[in-house]
Amino acid sequence: MWLGLFILFYSFIFNDGKHFNGGTIRWAPVDPYDNSSSLDITVTQSYSWTYPYIKCANNVPISTSGFTGANTNLICVVDCSTNGGYSSAPIDILTNCTSASSSLNMMTSERSKNITLSAGAHFYLAYRGNAWLPLNDPAQTGLDWSIVTYIDLRKRSDGFINTPPVATIVSPQYAIVNRTIQINIPVSDANAGDDVRCRWSKYTSGYRRRKRSDNEEHVKHPSKGKKELVMAAVVLRVQMVAHVAVLVVFLQRVPV
Ligand SMILES: *[C@@H]1O[C@H](CO)[C@@H](O)[C@H](O)[C@H]1NC(C)=O
Ligand SMILES: *[C@@H]1O[C@H](CO)[C@@H](O)[C@H](O)[C@H]1NC(C)=O
Ligand SMILES: *[C@@H]1O[C@H](CO)[C@@H](O)[C@H](O)[C@H]1NC(C)=O
Ligand SMILES: *[C@@H]1O[C@H](CO)[C@@H](O)[C@H](O)[C@H]1NC(C)=O
Repeated sequence: MWLGLFILFYSFIFNDGKHFNGGTIRWAPVDPYDNSSSLDITVTQSYSWTYPYIKCANNVPISTSGFTGANTNLICVVDCSTNGGYSSAPIDILTNCTSASSSLNMMTSERSKNITLSAGAHFYLAYRGNAWLPLNDPAQTGLDWSIVTYIDLRKRSDGFINTPPVATIVSPQYAIVNRTIQINIPVSDANAGDDVRCRWSKYTSGYRRRKRSDNEEHVKHPSKGKKELVMAAVVLRVQMVAHVAVLVVFLQRVPV
């Protein structure tokens, strides 16, 4: 059983140009010790956008002219038979601008929403789109993108609902092909004593899933719950060379 949060940072574009720069979707139980048959969780979406192409305003991106049709819902992509009623009250992807920098050409936006799900729900929720930035190494174009979170309201063996760890990192991260770089990923975890690990993800066939690899890159401290931070696919974007960077980060709690 895998519990926890699973974040993908992808860089991509819509058909009309480069305006979305990735982000994260995270969630936390409002009360991890709640034993009721329905539970409240807070889902927080954080995205980054090209600025001022996308305006710093409420209800990003539909507050920018030309994007009025860009609203959509987060959708269940995997394990939807146990979505705890999510599909009857889905969350849209609209967020409010929280900061903007003209020099960095970047704007960030965020919004938290509470939703009620039935106890024991577990499913993968995603913000999906298409027309990713093309990758150059290996060359691929026309890719779909997906930012995914794994919601799991089943109780841990130690009796409460897990709160996934949170990584604060700006997306995308750029690297040069065949050159080593160091990317620091600050991570925090609300559950005292849980162990947060990093690993590189490996693609596995099947719908937008990545599988666990045996390589654990970094281990912090021993504990009752192990969690993993997973990174993948660093391909680069260098100006004028058009290499594109994709950094994928997963956070998951794994069986001890
Ligand atoms: C929830 O159930 C567990 C196990 O039965 C119990 O130990 C705990 O006290 C309950 N929590 C609340 C808030 O009632
Ligand atoms: C975000 O914008 C909406 C629409 O204007 C507003 O109702 C809401 O209060 C804002 N939320 C936050 C957290 O600022
Ligand atoms: C979610 O619910 C909690 C508990 O009722 C509340 O403190 C919090 O402000 C709510 N968050 C949002 C985004 O509505
Ligand atoms: C990176 O290194 C591999 C293995 O040496 C090589 O085949 C590939 O062409 C290199 N790619 C670039 C873009 O330099």
